[in-house]
Amino acid sequence: MNRIPMVAGNWKMYKNISEARHLVSEMIPGLQMVENVEKVICPPFTALLAVRALLEGSDIGLGAQDMYWESAGAFTGEISPLMLSELCHYVIIGHSERRSYFGETNQTVNKKLHAALSHGLFPIVCVGETLEENQAHKTHQVITSQLHEGFQALVLDRVEDNGQVPFAIAYEPVWAIGTGQAASPEGANTVVKEIVRPALTDMFGEKLASMTRVLYGGSVKANNAVDFFVQSDIDGALVGGACLKVEEFIPIVQAAA
Ligand code: PGA
Repeated sequence: MNRIPMVAGNWKMYKNISEARHLVSEMIPGLQMVENVEKVICPPFTALLAVRALLEGSDIGLGAQDMYWESAGAFTGEISPLMLSELCHYVIIGHSERRSYFGETNQTVNKKLHAALSHGLFPIVCVGETLEENQAHKTHQVITSQLHEGFQALVLDRVEDNGQVPFAIAYEPVWAIGTGQAASPEGANTVVKEIVRPALTDMFGEKLASMTRVLYGGSVKANNAVDFFVQSDIDGALVGGACLKVEEFIPIVQAAA
């Protein structure tokens, strides 16, 4: 097992370059003091280069929030995994905002996942049910298909330098994102334990399934983070709103340690 906790901050469409520089400079000392947690920040594409320069020499990872699956070509407006691979190591794939506002599907997630891995990027793949699906008792079905279709034809043939599986899953119930209404830690853990890990076991076998980091996302704050991190099957968090505030994000990362 030995899953290293991971906390990733998804900045979404916030912060211009100078604001990003300012925020990261404020965060670096506090983040650097926390050991044994894989710390990742995912600013907008436009701030990646500036943030990368500030993070040089630190143990803080840098990620993008999305990417296209082709390496190059006539795809106006898109950013390729090849381009990202010279800027950052991580990439969020299939966030619910991408799925609901930009038409992403399990099939596009699958293409992006293959492309990210083949370029040496570390994908953080988001899954999660909407409120309607939850109320209709479709959570199991929805997440199982998101994983099976999203990971289709994926062969796991390497691990990261630190021995970890080269991708992570983020379980983010859509109704908990940006609402201040986090899932209950026990409820989220049950979903991970009874739906996410079994789907991973079906695809990759029990050993790799038990080695894969599964994060929780959805209204994680400094005052509730530890309740998620003490759960048996939750290995960290994908943090939205709270990752833009130093006084929130640092305690969340500390809680993961
Ligand atoms: P939130 O967002 O922490 O603001 O709920 C989480 C996410 O979108 O990944």
